[in-house]
Amino acid sequence: MRVLGIETTCDETAAAIVELRSDGAGDILANEVMSQIAEHAAYGGVVPEIAARAHVETIDRLVERALDHAKFGLADLDGIAAAAGPGLIGGVIVGLTTAKALALAAQKPFIAVNHLEAHALTPRLTDALDFPYMLLLVSGGHTQLVAVRGVGDYVRLGSTVDDAVGEAFDKVAKMLGLPYPGGPRVEEEAAKGNPARFDFPRPMLGRPKPDFSLSGLKTAVRLEAQRIAPLTATDVADLCASFQAAIVDTLIDRCRVGLKVFRGQIGTCRSMVVAGGAASNGGIRRALLRFCGETGLRLVLPPPHLCTDNGAMIAWVGIERLVLGQRDDMTFAARPRWPLDSNAEAAHHGKA
Ligand code: KG4
Ligand code: ZN
Repeated sequence: MRVLGIETTCDETAAAIVELRSDGAGDILANEVMSQIAEHAAYGGVVPEIAARAHVETIDRLVERALDHAKFGLADLDGIAAAAGPGLIGGVIVGLTTAKALALAAQKPFIAVNHLEAHALTPRLTDALDFPYMLLLVSGGHTQLVAVRGVGDYVRLGSTVDDAVGEAFDKVAKMLGLPYPGGPRVEEEAAKGNPARFDFPRPMLGRPKPDFSLSGLKTAVRLEAQRIAPLTATDVADLCASFQAAIVDTLIDRCRVGLKVFRGQIGTCRSMVVAGGAASNGGIRRALLRFCGETGLRLVLPPPHLCTDNGAMIAWVGIERLVLGQRDDMTFAARPRWPLDSNAEAAHHGKA
């Protein structure tokens, strides 16, 4: 089985072709990603209209390149999948419409994929990981802990009540004058700095529900930076290191509580997975390795290029759903919000 996956929910345009292997994992035959960082850098963040236009201008070329690279034509595919949300609506419509048109033209099944589900199932693409497992999703738009019980079967254990982890990194970078996107730059600075110089708050520490809150931490960094301004290079490095240390402590505490809730309410949990752009942060990865060692969990860390947005993860969900005999029809509309856990709608805090 072979599926084309299209991703356009944020600022990467991506198209990939994945084939199901006999061992249950996936083979990535092509994985084309075009980042729009340069287009958005001048604005310090993603501008939805610019993103949508850039997706329109690149998606056809990327699909062609993916097919060329994999040496297949549309006729050789078993399905065509696109992320249908959550995300910036203009971009989502571009990817979704492209996939529908290709599916209609080639008379192939069409699958509308939840972008968060694609992050959640990536360790099955890379490692054929068995259900259930706990997912920590830390991207620019989302921060949540999820119990992944099966395809389409997710329980949200907790989520952020304000900023996402990647968003907090980006905002701290901006206030310290580091260029967009901020996450990787803050990590670089943090590596040179002293994580113990500033005692920043660890929000939510010890709370019994594994939710996250990061806006207070972000404000604390801003106030400290204003207090000691003008900032030297050492100040910037120390602020980044101390901020990252606070994020890491908070994430680990929330994972500890999340695991307790998982084991108490859902059942055995042997594995943990981390996904989303901030999952490429070395400090976060090292801390999670330690945490999983202590708690007897197997940690699956997809390679950084599969942690950030990509088309392979979308194609993979297409495969998982086709294997189960599922497909979508052409009336499926783009969804700017689309929580993973259908029961979570009521308890929704503002981040899908
Ligand atoms: O998953 P992603 O590519 O896009 C979505 O938000 O869906 O994540 C991008 C986010 C950005 O906020 C970026 O600053 C953050 O991930 N990020 C990082 C690192 N690399 C990317 N945050 C911290 N450390 C990093 N090394
Ligand atoms: Zn994402």
